[in-house]
Amino acid sequence: MESILEIDNLHTGYGKIPVLWGVSLRVEKGSITALIGSNGAGKTTTLRAIVGVLPTWKGRIVFMGEDVTKTPSYLRVEKGIVLVPEGRGIFPQMTVYENLLMGAFNRRARSKIGDSLERVFNIFPRLKERLNQKAGTLSGGEQQMLAIARGLMALPKLLMVDEASLGLAPKLAIEIMELIKRIREEEGISILVVEQNVHYALNIADYAYVLETGRIRMEGPANEIAKNPEIIRAYLGMH
Ligand SMILES: Nc1ncnc2c1ncn2[C@@H]1O[C@H](COP(=O)(O)OP(=O)(O)O)[C@@H](O)[C@H]1O
Ligand SMILES: [Mg+2]
Repeated sequence: MESILEIDNLHTGYGKIPVLWGVSLRVEKGSITALIGSNGAGKTTTLRAIVGVLPTWKGRIVFMGEDVTKTPSYLRVEKGIVLVPEGRGIFPQMTVYENLLMGAFNRRARSKIGDSLERVFNIFPRLKERLNQKAGTLSGGEQQMLAIARGLMALPKLLMVDEASLGLAPKLAIEIMELIKRIREEEGISILVVEQNVHYALNIADYAYVLETGRIRMEGPANEIAKNPEIIRAYLGMH
């Protein structure tokens, strides 16, 4: 299988404090890959390094066969690496429509806004009904939909979604995960989901990596990881 993203021996951190100690992972083209682990394991830090808002201290990031380890963040977005950040990062005072337009700022996306809106409305019809509503007045689930939809407006080839289910009631969390699945199926976009709510991620993923204190502890097909006794004990015990 061809991989869209390959990370090899990634080290990074904040200031002088290391957080990742040699993370290696692959996202296969067209797959949903999950990066799971407890709060503080380094999942968000990994995504920040991939999108380039954190420098790589050591190691290599290869996207679509090209070494992007030193590529500035805005150019990585231009190439199709798009992050839907933890906490959603939407602009509450702006309308749904304005938030969507903010997603299409890169050069490649700007010329295709009309097209992108149609595709986004196909997956998120609820947003179409609320185009002129202030984003801050949307429900939590709708705000998460908007955050993902804004990511789609940037025309990702790899969409990375950080903690999509966080703070949502189970029913809504499952709905969001199903929508992520549809994005892969209907748009053919490769997806990297990051979740501390491990069971949601393993439900939709093909392959999973388990991150613990900045190191990959385990990897394998998501259905096998979900059955692993150690994983059940550490992460799935309450479900
Ligand atoms: N901006 C930051 N400055 C300093 N340390 C940070 C910062 N963000 C995260 N960290 C630290 O990095 C470690 C990993 O955090 P993070 O990547 O956010 O974990 P996760 O997303 O898996 O919950 C934690 O110890 C956290 O305290
Ligand atoms: Mg995080």
